[in-house]
Parts: sequence; C-alpha cells; structure tokens
Amino acid sequence: MLVVRELSKQFGGVKAVDDLSFDVKSGTIHSIIGPNGAGKTTLVNMITGIYKVTSGEIYLKKEGEIYQKDDIEEIIHGKRENITNIPMNKLVHKGVCRTFQHLEICKDMSALENIMLGFHRFLNKNFILSCINSKKIREDEQKYEYEAMKYLKMFSLEDIVYKKADSLPYGVLKKLEIIRALATKPRLILFDEPVAGLNPKETAEISKIIKELANEGITIILVEHDMKMVMQISDKITVVNFGKKLAEGTPLEIANDENVINAYLGKRHGKA
Ligand SMILES: Nc1ncnc2c1ncn2[C@@H]1O[C@H](COP(=O)(O)OP(=O)(O)OP(=O)(O)O)[C@@H](O)[C@H]1O
Ligand SMILES: [Mg+2]
Repeated sequence: MLVVRELSKQFGGVKAVDDLSFDVKSGTIHSIIGPNGAGKTTLVNMITGIYKVTSGEIYLKKEGEIYQKDDIEEIIHGKRENITNIPMNKLVHKGVCRTFQHLEICKDMSALENIMLGFHRFLNKNFILSCINSKKIREDEQKYEYEAMKYLKMFSLEDIVYKKADSLPYGVLKKLEIIRALATKPRLILFDEPVAGLNPKETAEISKIIKELANEGITIILVEHDMKMVMQISDKITVVNFGKKLAEGTPLEIANDENVINAYLGKRHGKA
C-alpha cells in the first residue's frame, strides 16, 4: 500500500527523521514504535502531507491496481503514485486519512457534526449545482447522517449524538476522531497514539475495532506506546530511534531483539 524511501526531516539542527525506508503491505497493521522524540509523529506528518519532507519519497498504491509485490520494482514500473508533499486535503481523496496524537476535534460542534466533516469529501460542494439540485444535496446529507449514526452505534456512542464535543469525556473524543477518519472511507489510516490516556476497557475496544478494520482490508499504520496492544494486533513493527530505523519484524522478533530491548522495550512496563 505504501512505500517510504530514504525519508528525512530536519528541523534546524535536529534530524527528526533520518533516512527512513519501509514498506507497508495492503490490509495489514504496521506499527511504528520507539522512544519519545524518536520521530514517529514527524513521520506521520510527512506521510499525510502536513510537513514537507526534507528529502526522500513516499509512494501510494494506485486505486484498483493489483500487485504481486510491495516493493521498489513497482515504483520503477510506474504502478505507484508518488504522493510526497501532497497536502492532506488532496490525500483524503486518494483514500488516506489519519487521527492526531493531540485531539483535533471541533469543540463547539456536536458529535454528529464532527463526524459529518469526515463525509465532506462525498458531499457536493459546488454552490451553483447545490442551488439547482438542492433536493439531491439534502438526500445525500440524510444518507451520510444515517451512516454517521451507524458508526456511532458501532462505537456504543448513540447517546451522545447531539452533545457538544466540549461536554464529552476524552475517551469519547478519541473515538469520535476515529469515526471521523472512517467516514472518509479510507484505504489507509494512520493512527497516532489512538489509546493514549484511555482506560483498559476503552483500549481493548479500540484495539478490537482496529483489528476489524484491517480484516475488512483497510491498511493501518499504528503509532502507539501501549506495547500490549502493539504486540497483540500488529502484523509487522518498525522500531524507530533518533529518527532512524532500529529494527523491523514480527511482534515476536521485535520483543526478542537485543537492540530494541536496550533502546526501548527494556525501559517500558506495558503502557506509557
Ligand atoms: N514542528 C517542529 N519543529 C521543531 N522540532 C520539531 C517539530 N516537530 C517535532 N520536532 C522535533 O523532532 C523530534 C521528533 O519529534 P516527534 O514528535 O516526531 O517524536 P515522537 O516519536 O512522535 O515522540 P512521542 O512518542 O513523544 O510522541 C523531537 O526532537 C522534536 O522536538
Ligand atoms: Mg508523537
């Protein structure tokens, strides 16, 4: 789904991401882990076009293309699209979306309105057309409102549909952000610490939902410090330290990797 090649980001004297390359296979959960300040959010910000890259390239599988391999050969043969420095508002139309480490929820909007923002890409935004065909627009809005309600039920949030976001607890807002991302009908979702600050029950719920999304064929990039969750649900893990790749492998391989234990896992006891 995604090929990242020799990606770097420099902030003044700090190389936040340093020559990082990895491949993310379609329909898998690929976790990115590493100590605080390792460059994980910076990486997500580059993939989602929020930060411009200092150097390197990011390639996305073209919609509908079928691949034998997730590797560089297909880039050479032009089967993948170079999405380096494409802004988030354009990437969403290519099926890429994300959630944020620090919540990005519109506090003065209701839960439902926040989710409807996710459907925005499907609603007709042409003013003239919407005047001529206002019935169709209303129908579309009703359809997406119905879908939003389905998601709210899926997350057991049907009681808070019309509540203003600023009156809702943190755990609920984290879920709302995930629903808003799902509403964009993504092929690839990047989660930046989706369970940070959540209790074990909420963590288990989100974990289950992420697993289900992958089972439905959505590709997941998961940045998370909760090692129990990462080890349980990941297909592959890339460990980053000081912006560089420290190790890569299955959860079992990573849990037993000397370098990873010394740099990261050894100091952690389950949740951050
Ligand atoms: N906008 C910015 N301007 C300057 N420096 C930045 C900026 N964003 C990140 N950095 C620096 O880049 C490095 C990597 O930060 P980043 O937020 O990517 O780490 P992280 O792995 O996500 O950490 P955490 O686990 O704490 O979320 C840090 O040294 C940070 O101070
Ligand atoms: Mg971060």
